[in-house]
Amino acid sequence: MTSTHSTGTDTGTDTGTDTAARKAPGTPEGPHSVPPFAVIPGAQVQQVLQGRERQLVRLVEGTYRLHGDGRTLNPPSYFLRFPDRPDSRIIALPASLGGPHPVDGLKWISSFPRNVAAGIPRASAVLILNDPATGYPYACLESSIISATRTAASAAAAADRLSRGRPRPLRVGFFGTGLIARYIHTFLAATGRRFEATGIYDVSADSAAGFRTYLEQHAEAHPAPPSGRITLHTDPERLIRTSDLVVFATVAARPHITDPAWFAHHPLVLHISLRDLAPEIVLDSANFVDDVEHCLKADTSPHLAEQRTGTRDFIDGTLADVLAGRVRVPEDRTVIFSPFGLGVLDLAVGGFVHGEVARSGELNVIDDFFRDLRRYG
Ligand SMILES: NC(=O)c1ccc[n+]([C@@H]2O[C@H](COP(=O)([O-])OP(=O)(O)OC[C@H]3O[C@@H](n4cnc5c(N)ncnc54)[C@H](O)[C@@H]3O)[C@@H](O)[C@H]2O)c1
Repeated sequence: MTSTHSTGTDTGTDTGTDTAARKAPGTPEGPHSVPPFAVIPGAQVQQVLQGRERQLVRLVEGTYRLHGDGRTLNPPSYFLRFPDRPDSRIIALPASLGGPHPVDGLKWISSFPRNVAAGIPRASAVLILNDPATGYPYACLESSIISATRTAASAAAAADRLSRGRPRPLRVGFFGTGLIARYIHTFLAATGRRFEATGIYDVSADSAAGFRTYLEQHAEAHPAPPSGRITLHTDPERLIRTSDLVVFATVAARPHITDPAWFAHHPLVLHISLRDLAPEIVLDSANFVDDVEHCLKADTSPHLAEQRTGTRDFIDGTLADVLAGRVRVPEDRTVIFSPFGLGVLDLAVGGFVHGEVARSGELNVIDDFFRDLRRYG
């Protein structure tokens, strides 16, 4: 049974069993009472997040700073793989976020690439938020939108922070043009990036055409279209050589771009899909990651570079280092940002969504989700 409540003052709908107080989640210090459990569907998530791109980039940057300051816990992700479905996986990302809005939790995200041929998105996810005082889960959120949003906000932050002090990228190239590419474009545009040219390359003609249509519709809807001239490339080399900002968002499992000469013009590369670039290209570039331990795992391109050289010296720093001014971004080299994708970002965005829905009074609280709360009945 669902009902609509506002949190904050809500003490739950004690429908009979006992008097255990149900409150909004607290801080690690308390209160030690059972929070109400809410389900937040994609429609509510989307309603909260749409149009708030600048705020979300600031939220994600703040979360990277907390992570850089050691005020988060982000243990390794757990990969569930299937021998009979080797291209699919489900990943668990447990995490704990400190700072002004503490929250613990878990993202559970599936990647089934064959979904795309059936007309449904590759990725699907839920996010569980846990109360830091009691450990009780207090919300389950649709999380494919949250995941795509935090990924795009992180990419927009990197595009901004890693290009300061370098020539402003005027030509963007999207290499792999699925849902993540669309979110990243939306965030780049909404945070003020303007391009003279936008290039598209995808192994799937349908994907490339779909993305082009999205770009054209986006341009029609905006008085100052951010994309400039749109070019659909059939040659991946041409896309890279004609882009100052290259966004990789493919589903490639192993490197397929091997020639460092394609990067002779030293673009900024957002290597969101993590496994497109051969170690030679990684080693020929300045490299920034979200978290070194996370990113040098699971056969990502930086991980392959580490295996090749036996060292991590090719990593120049994290985005948190750049935000804190601890490292400088070179002007005269290719710069690659490889974000493994941190669960704490999902918690930050998910916690924000929960707070906004609660404030609006529209939380779908599941009455009596937690039962039998007296120890001896
Ligand atoms: N690093 C992170 O934090 C993070 C977060 C979310 C998603 N991702 C990654 O982003 C990627 C894209 O996700 P999506 O949801 O947009 O997937 P999607 O399936 O919607 O789109 C992927 C696109 O890449 C294309 N493609 C596949 N191999 C290619 C190749 N070799 N060259 C060019 N195009 C190719 C496909 O045709 C498809 O259009 C995935 O690899 C996903 O794991 C990373």
